[in-house]
Amino acid sequence: MKVDTGIIKSNTYIGKDVYKMEIQTDLADEVQCGQFVEVEVPNYFLRRPISVCEVKEDHTIVLVYKVVGDGTRFMTTMHDEISLFGPCGNGFPVVDEDVLLIGGGVGVPPLLQTAKEYKKIGKNVSVVVGFNTKEDAILIDELKKYSDALYIATMDGSEGTKGTVIDAINENNVDCEYVLSCGPLPMLKAINTKYTKGCISLEARMACGIGACMGCVVKDNEGNSLRVCKDGPVFPIGKVVL
Ligand SMILES: Cc1cc2nc3c(=O)[nH]c(=O)nc-3n(C[C@H](O)[C@H](O)[C@H](O)COP(=O)(O)OP(=O)(O)OC[C@H]3O[C@@H](n4cnc5c(N)ncnc54)[C@H](O)[C@@H]3O)c2cc1C
Ligand code: FES
Repeated sequence: MKVDTGIIKSNTYIGKDVYKMEIQTDLADEVQCGQFVEVEVPNYFLRRPISVCEVKEDHTIVLVYKVVGDGTRFMTTMHDEISLFGPCGNGFPVVDEDVLLIGGGVGVPPLLQTAKEYKKIGKNVSVVVGFNTKEDAILIDELKKYSDALYIATMDGSEGTKGTVIDAINENNVDCEYVLSCGPLPMLKAINTKYTKGCISLEARMACGIGACMGCVVKDNEGNSLRVCKDGPVFPIGKVVL
């Protein structure tokens, strides 16, 4: 992990409060799928954790972020340089299994690099992504490039299956049993109930981002404390009390 000043190559609006930032940085050579970087937002004390969506040639990483508050709003105005700390966290495992990637909302971005990694080793990649409405859907064309099957669920039924990712999985008889997932808590709870093999990636409010402050702690089934920023954000299905 290190601090690097990256060069912002582009920072563009891709739909409904969501932006895509391409950054040239030395960190690109070290990132594993599912890891995140801590972004420095000028004039804000705490860095903001954002998952690495994709690693591209020419030492470039892609971040896809949603504007939810002042920090992410300021990020939309950044076009020159950006200070990054990372890569942080453990990332998704890349194992010798066909994989089902399940994402919800802004949990979808880290699944893109994960799909690429599984395709690279010749595995079958199924993707199921869920959004509130069709307008919230992101990264669909990109994910199609690296998957064998892709299904969409929207809560209002404006695209794909009406309902949750679990409804889309049932409707389309998606039967892969090794799952990697990132998204909102209710979705992760449903995955913990339905599946036993694979991992989920958690979100937490973070302060230090390096395991020192205990500000992002969750509990495992035996009552032990786990830091989302350092022990996670990726945990085996069933390990963490959600
Ligand atoms: C490991 C990790 C990876 C992440 N990856 C992405 C990503 O790829 N794309 C993306 O858009 N976002 C991602 N996030 C969430 C992102 O870090 C927050 O949205 C961001 O820090 C908010 O900063 P802000 O200053 O705009 O909002 P603030 O002003 O800090 O907060 C605005 C609102 O957002 C809520 N909020 C802030 N941070 C979080 C959080 N971590 N979890 C849940 N709610 C939060 C606050 O409670 C508040 O309601 C990730 C978070 C973690 C922990
Ligand atoms: S944010 Fe400080 S320990 Fe995780």
